[in-house]
Amino acid sequence: MNYRHIYHAGNFADIAKHVGLLYCLDALKRKQAAFFALDSHSGRGFYDLQAAEARKSAEAERGIQRLIENSIGDPVLADYFTAIRARRGKRLARYPGSPAIVAGSLRRQDRALFVELLPAEARAAAREIESLGRVRTEIDDGYAALKAFLPPEERRGLVLIDPPYESLDELKIMLQAFADAYRRWPTGIFLLWYPIRSATQRNMVHARFEALHIPKMLYADLAIHPDDAGVGLAGSGLMIVNPPFGTDDYLRSAYASIHSGIAAAGSGYVEVERLTPERLAQ
Ligand SMILES: C[S@@+](CC[C@H](N)C(=O)[O-])C[C@H]1O[C@@H](n2cnc3c(N)ncnc32)[C@H](O)[C@@H]1O
Repeated sequence: MNYRHIYHAGNFADIAKHVGLLYCLDALKRKQAAFFALDSHSGRGFYDLQAAEARKSAEAERGIQRLIENSIGDPVLADYFTAIRARRGKRLARYPGSPAIVAGSLRRQDRALFVELLPAEARAAAREIESLGRVRTEIDDGYAALKAFLPPEERRGLVLIDPPYESLDELKIMLQAFADAYRRWPTGIFLLWYPIRSATQRNMVHARFEALHIPKMLYADLAIHPDDAGVGLAGSGLMIVNPPFGTDDYLRSAYASIHSGIAAAGSGYVEVERLTPERLAQ
């Protein structure tokens, strides 16, 4: 595997994914009962935005640094800016990965498991994460962890599945793993990230999810380029299964704010819609 998330940390796709993740974590805290969070492809805890790799790609520059400059006062993103410790007029030195965002949201009664295949990344996550709740990091295959750890004893919580999509069959493997995990835990909140590389590929991803015949799926797509611009990553997609109350409206306005903060005028779009209804005919 060649993938290193340091090149992409803090880009528009990370922002979109983490805004959705944070909303779902906050929603779980509307009740006192403990929750469990499983991050199957966790990466590390924090990414140094001064590292050579991050500077070379400049993705954070066009992503989170631009968003802080243009949109820091927007109330719809206030919780996200607090979570990543962004401050008005300051450049961000390090960008939190999903384990830091999850760990920062845990209460004493909550629990999280971070799974990462690369030992160096997993060790960094274990070293860097501090949390009120109980956290554990495993060096392992995230798809195997879905089988091993679901359903959790808490019976409420979320799963983030955020693979690198380096291999052509990653979507197929991810969908199979998700379908199996959903059968184990049909009441869990699942967040599944996918890239948007062209209009045809985006339609295909939506169709493949729909074919799983699972109710309560919401897709939240944020593109900063036209789908067929041929730029590699035109947009970021997040499929949320069993989205908490209010997710649709919140993500519509949060993504509109992100889009206006970082996309060139007239380029790309925000689309947040239900893919499947509350109930499906058998
Ligand atoms: C997109 S990055 C994760 C970013 C992270 N979730 C975040 O939001 O900050 C994907 C990660 O998955 C790891 N990875 C790749 N294949 C994996 C597998 N089968 N199981 C677990 N981790 C894997 C990569 O090393 C990489 O760190």
